[in-house]
Amino acid sequence: MPFSLEVFDDPRELDRAAARWLAARVRPGAVLGLATGNTPMGMYRELVAMHRRGELSLAGVRTFNLDEYVGLGADDPRSYAAYMLEHLFRWVDIAPGQWHIPDGLNPDPEEEASRYDRLYWELGPCDVQVLGIGRNGHIGFNEPGTPFDQGTHVVELAWETRLANAEAFGSPEAVPERAITLGIRNILAAREILLLAKGASKAEAVRRALEEEPSPDLPASALQLHPRVTVYLDREAARAISRP
Ligand code: PGA
Repeated sequence: MPFSLEVFDDPRELDRAAARWLAARVRPGAVLGLATGNTPMGMYRELVAMHRRGELSLAGVRTFNLDEYVGLGADDPRSYAAYMLEHLFRWVDIAPGQWHIPDGLNPDPEEEASRYDRLYWELGPCDVQVLGIGRNGHIGFNEPGTPFDQGTHVVELAWETRLANAEAFGSPEAVPERAITLGIRNILAAREILLLAKGASKAEAVRRALEEEPSPDLPASALQLHPRVTVYLDREAARAISRP
């Protein structure tokens, strides 16, 4: 199995380890693939703290986020552009124009997905890609059934995903039905991958991702096809795996 796996008793320690992992790969010209959601929030908090202590500069890097909701832009606090500003970009020294997120406000989402894919290959692929995992095993918004060789595309979000993300929107029905996501092809092209998972709700998806035959039924199982994947889990997310 190609994974380097670490399980943390203390979720804060996982956050610190994830921040250290990412910071160690920051150098001028690096291209960082970033994720949103609850899981990496603590990692971003630690990165901001490192920046404040003078231990980290993002001045020379470029970033690509995985995904964005169709119909939402940075002015909407529920957008992933707003999330990234709030949790990282406004607190650090990343240069304007150096971070990239699909434009959820492009009236032609298909065209936006193609534009983002072209930009990804022009400036990337990413040196590192940070990932969370959905309860249904999605990575980015690559829902179950997504072919492993698909590039950036418009996706109909699974009901499970809209349920999981309902809090910010008030109800699952209010969660946008569509999103633009980097594809599994983009994700697998990153030189190194860091997969983060916290909580018992992720335990079964983590087990299937790490231990079952790779299959589009569980998108995160595609990571078994990548040679350099680091997996950081809290104790709860690790409870269904056969090791350690
Ligand atoms: P979460 O989402 O970090 O909010 O649990 C992860 C994901 O759905 O990829």
